Amino acid sequence: MEIHRFEKLWFGASLLLIVVLIATIVYGAVGPGVAMVDDSGGTVEPSNLTASENFREPGVYEAQDGGYDVYVRAQQFSFQPGSSSPIRVPADTEITFYVTSSDVTHGFNVVGTNVNTMVIPGQVAEITVNFDEPGTYRIACNEYCGAAHHAMEGTIEVVPRSQYELQSQGVTDQ
Ligand code: CUA
Repeated sequence: MEIHRFEKLWFGASLLLIVVLIATIVYGAVGPGVAMVDDSGGTVEPSNLTASENFREPGVYEAQDGGYDVYVRAQQFSFQPGSSSPIRVPADTEITFYVTSSDVTHGFNVVGTNVNTMVIPGQVAEITVNFDEPGTYRIACNEYCGAAHHAMEGTIEVVPRSQYELQSQGVTDQ
C-alpha cells in the first residue's frame, strides 16, 4: 500500500509532538522540581492550629540549619503574618513556609516566583524557597475564598542577609 508523503510527514510530526510533550513533563518534574505539595507538613486541627507539634504561633522563627521557618495562618481575608505586617526574611537563605488555613481553602502565591500552593484547612502546606534578590514581594490568594477574596493579599520583605542579622539582634529594632 502506498502511503502519501504528506501523510507520513504528519504521522511523524504527531509522534514527535507526543514525545516532546512527555519530555517536557519529565523535565518539569526532574529539572525545576515542579510537584504537587506533598503531605510533609502534616495535619492540624483548623480550630486550634497550635494544638499539634507541626504548627507554631504564626511568625518567623530561626531554624536549626541556619535558615528560617515562617508559620503563616490564612483566614478570610488575610495572611498572618503578611497582611497587617510584612513577613521579613533575609535573602540568600533557606526559608521554609508552613501555611495553613483556619477556615476555608485559600491560596498562597508569592507573585513572580514559583511559590504557589493551595492552603487547605487541616493541612499544612510546606514550601522551601531561597530569595536571591532583596526586595518586596507580594502574596496573593488565588483560590476563591469569599466576598473579599480579591482583597486578600500580603507582603514579604526580603532584606540583604547582613542587614537582617543586625535587625534580628535588635540593633535596629523597628
Ligand atoms: Cu483567600 Cu481567596
